[in-house]
Amino acid sequence: MSAQIIDGKAIAKEIRQQIKEEIAQLVATGKTQPGLAVVIVGNNPASRVYVNAKKKACAEVGIYSEEYALPETITESELISLIQKLNHDRKIHGILVQLPLPDHIDEQKVIESINPQKDVDGFHPMNIGNLLIGTPTFIPCTPAGIMVLLQKTGIELKGKHAVVIGRSNIVGKPVSILLLAQHATVTICHSRTIDLPAVAREADVLVVAIGKPNFITGAAIKPGAVVIDVGVNRVDDKLVGDVEFESVSQVAGYITPVPGGVGPMTIAMLLQNTLQAAKQ
Ligand code: GUN
Repeated sequence: MSAQIIDGKAIAKEIRQQIKEEIAQLVATGKTQPGLAVVIVGNNPASRVYVNAKKKACAEVGIYSEEYALPETITESELISLIQKLNHDRKIHGILVQLPLPDHIDEQKVIESINPQKDVDGFHPMNIGNLLIGTPTFIPCTPAGIMVLLQKTGIELKGKHAVVIGRSNIVGKPVSILLLAQHATVTICHSRTIDLPAVAREADVLVVAIGKPNFITGAAIKPGAVVIDVGVNRVDDKLVGDVEFESVSQVAGYITPVPGGVGPMTIAMLLQNTLQAAKQ
């Protein structure tokens, strides 16, 4: 293996420690403890794992959290009523609705019912719009975490070719905007891209968020490239990324592992956004 590992677990731990100290100081000076409401609908096992990890991380840094576990059968208007109640709850500074939601609920309508000032996921159109024009308020957690990983690793982005694989509202689109804001030249690929490996091979920085296990192999990597693997796929009871670690780490200069790369950063950024929401 030639690539250096970008240790997201260690970087996230450092950030969580800073957040913990800042919250202790806030509380010691009589300010309100930051509060997060986490809403989960139905029984998606992956969502359950993520929500548990988010609540545990909150407790560790001193963020107050409330969980609302709602049945699969809840109606869209019942869910929106709960969010409206949380919008007015003074103990709650951040509201997170774990996605995906069941098919009978319009995800976009639910996101738009969250007060943008409590939208710690950064998914509300107002926050996405602010990100797009370069005045971000809440940056979506996974893209924010990726940018911190690149910055802490000392990767220069100016003028570099960044290729993003995946165009979701949660990762692909926002991370593309953030890379552009750092003066990278950005290409976005997706399932309809013709000869995707050829495009990927042009990348100085490659972000892979397509949700297909081991999709990118070493043959699609420019020697020395920085590879950020956003995928979390369960294969034979093991977690694997969208990047085939074995072959890609032979060619890349830097690589994030799965687990222990981007995942821990997503949670650290959620804590950071919740602290920010409480401070404003
Ligand atoms: N589902 C997958 N990733 C996320 C995320 O970052 N936030 C929420 N709310 N749901 C998700």
